[in-house]
Amino acid sequence: MTLPGLLDTEAIRKDFPILDRTVHDGHKLVYLDNAATSQKPRQVLDAMSDYNERHNANVHRGVHVLAEEATALYEGARDKVAGFINAPSRDEVVFTKNASESLNLVANMLGWADEPYKVEHDTEIVITEMEHHSNIVPWQLLSQRTGAKLKWFGLTDDGRLDLSAVDEVITEKTKVVSFTLVSNIMGTINPVDAIVRRAQEVGALVVVDASQAAPHMVLDVQAIQADFVAFTGHKMCGPTGIGVLWGRQELLDDLPPFLGGGEMIETVTMHASTYAPAPHKFEAGTPPIAQAVGLGAAVDYLSAIGMDRIQEHEHALTAYAVSKLSQIPDLRFIGPTTAEDRGAAISFTLGDIHPHDVGQVLDEQGIAVRVGHHCARPVCLRYGIPATTRASFYLYSTPAEVDALAEGVEHVRNFFA
Ligand code: ALA
Repeated sequence: MTLPGLLDTEAIRKDFPILDRTVHDGHKLVYLDNAATSQKPRQVLDAMSDYNERHNANVHRGVHVLAEEATALYEGARDKVAGFINAPSRDEVVFTKNASESLNLVANMLGWADEPYKVEHDTEIVITEMEHHSNIVPWQLLSQRTGAKLKWFGLTDDGRLDLSAVDEVITEKTKVVSFTLVSNIMGTINPVDAIVRRAQEVGALVVVDASQAAPHMVLDVQAIQADFVAFTGHKMCGPTGIGVLWGRQELLDDLPPFLGGGEMIETVTMHASTYAPAPHKFEAGTPPIAQAVGLGAAVDYLSAIGMDRIQEHEHALTAYAVSKLSQIPDLRFIGPTTAEDRGAAISFTLGDIHPHDVGQVLDEQGIAVRVGHHCARPVCLRYGIPATTRASFYLYSTPAEVDALAEGVEHVRNFFA
């Protein structure tokens, strides 16, 4: 089976040693849990090994050769990420531990900020019902701490944002609007422009969770006109332990730091401190150096293939998967039922078979999917279900794996019939 728009997965898969694995007594691994974490190509593994074997030292501190090499590699990774997201300046790229930390960082910056950014009683924070918990809980904490009202866009029956009352949800009182570009549970791609336009009208800051977008499509922070964009390395062929917060320079200059410590200061006395310029102001302590190097290598790897080509590949596969899965009786998509404006994560339920049973029987056939609420429990509540089964594709996924998924789901149905 071949589909128009597919990448040369035979060549790509040679870069990913783990994809050759078998599981459960010889079943070929069919890895369809990429929205949770992607696999790493040799190029990323080698870059991290090379760093650890030849260059390991702390950054920004030493005058010796290794310290200078480590600093160059760490800061070089920042350059690569800045280029990847079309950031106007490398100093707008803050390295964090993951997207959750990036989003918590913004919420805390705003919590400690002075006017005009201050979030306080009688102001509003707007999110959506399809957020990952990492873009809900930090705002709930900020709301509880400041008295600001937390509001959200609800969902339509087909898994899209209900923007019918955008002017009532985002008002003159709104200080910040934070939403996901692509839903991790349903794959929905959200209409950024409509939200950003209204937020700009009322002078609210826009925060975009791009965790499920950065790995899969061209992410141009200037084009989407957000104020902050958060994403993580391990979903885009990079390692765990490294995330990114991009922020507009003037905001990073104006807003206060959250974590204090080494590296983020300019001077310290026993009475007070002044802070280093961004991005270092937000990177207290020894950063995740090897992880940043790995992320830089992942950015190189994805860029060499082309993010537009990767999106085209995933779109073709997702359309194929939607058409195959929709032929299965009792299968209900949670989220969009077509391939339009959606990314490569597909959630579904199967009659009254619990998703954990679905996941376990698929796993016995070598098919790795995620089951549960996917850290987006309000979505499950909205659709009256405890959990979903989610299959999610990436640049190395193939039509044969979609076939295996569809056959596997049929097998689950028969197993529980
Ligand atoms: N956020 C990750 C997921 O959606 C863990 O699976």
